[in-house]
Amino acid sequence: MGKNTILKIENLEAGVKDKSILKGVNLEVSKGDIQVIMGPNGSGKSTLAEVLMGSFDSSILSGSIIFNSQDIVNKKPYERAQLGLFLAFQYPVEVPGVNFGVFLHSAYKTTTGENISIFEFILKLKKESKKLGIDETFLSRNLNEGLSGGEKKRMEILQIAILKPKLAILDEIDSGLDIDALRFVTDSINILNKEGITFLIITHQKKILDKVDISTLNIMSKGKIVKSGNTDLIDQIESLGYKKFLKNVQV
Ligand SMILES: Nc1ncnc2c1ncn2[C@@H]1O[C@H](COP(=O)(O)OP(=O)(O)O)[C@@H](O)[C@H]1O
Ligand SMILES: [Mg+2]
Repeated sequence: MGKNTILKIENLEAGVKDKSILKGVNLEVSKGDIQVIMGPNGSGKSTLAEVLMGSFDSSILSGSIIFNSQDIVNKKPYERAQLGLFLAFQYPVEVPGVNFGVFLHSAYKTTTGENISIFEFILKLKKESKKLGIDETFLSRNLNEGLSGGEKKRMEILQIAILKPKLAILDEIDSGLDIDALRFVTDSINILNKEGITFLIITHQKKILDKVDISTLNIMSKGKIVKSGNTDLIDQIESLGYKKFLKNVQV
C-alpha cells in the first residue's frame, strides 16, 4: 500500500440485507485524488458507497476496507465519520423542523470533537458559504425542507466544506441538476480538492468529467470494478455503450 493511500478496498464481498451484491471489489484511492466510478444501473455503485459508510442494512461477507491506515470493517458509521469519511447520499433526506445551521453544528461537534459555540460556528458557516458563493439567507432554512434538488446539493457541498472530511463520497450528486447547479458542484469540488479533500464520485454523467480533473475513472459492472483508467475510457463507453464496452473487458 502506497504511503499516500487513503482508501484501499480488497476483495470486498458485501450485500444489502441477505442479498449478495458486491462480488470482490478492489479499489485504491490516493490522497488528493478525484476518482470516479461509473457503470450500468444496478451494478452496485450505491451499495459500495453504503458499505463504505457502514449503513445499517449492509453487511460485509469478506475482504477488507482500509481507510486512513485503519481497518474500518467493524467500525460504526459515526466512527467512520470521525476518521474522516463523508457520504453525500443520492437522495438527501428531508428533516422537517431542523435548522440547517443547528444540525450542522451538532454534526461538526460530533465528528471533530471540537466544542465550538453555535455563534462561532455560524461565523464559520458564513465564511465557507461565501467562499463557495452560497447565499447567506440559505443558512436559516430547515434541513432540506422545501429545497429544490439543486439547493439540496448545495447544502451537501457546504457540509463537506464545513466538516472537511479526508474522503468525500458523492453518489450521483450531479443527477438532475441544471447547468448552473452543476457548475456550482464542479467548481466546489475543484476548490475543496485544492484544500486537500479527496473525492470518490459516483456518476452517470459525462458532464462532470469535463469540468473536474479526474485522477482515475473506474468502471463497475455486476458488483466488481472491471476497468480503471484515465478519462479516455469515457469516449469508448460513449461510442459503444456499456454493454458492448463491457464485452471487450474481462469481467
Ligand atoms: N435495500 C436493498 N435490498 C435488496 N436489494 C437491493 C437493495 N439495494 C440495492 N439492491 C440491489 O442491489 C443491486 C445494486 O444496486 P445499487 O447498488 O443501487 O446499484 P447502482 O447504484 O450501481 O445503480 C441492484 O440489483 C439492486 O436491486
Ligand atoms: Mg446508485
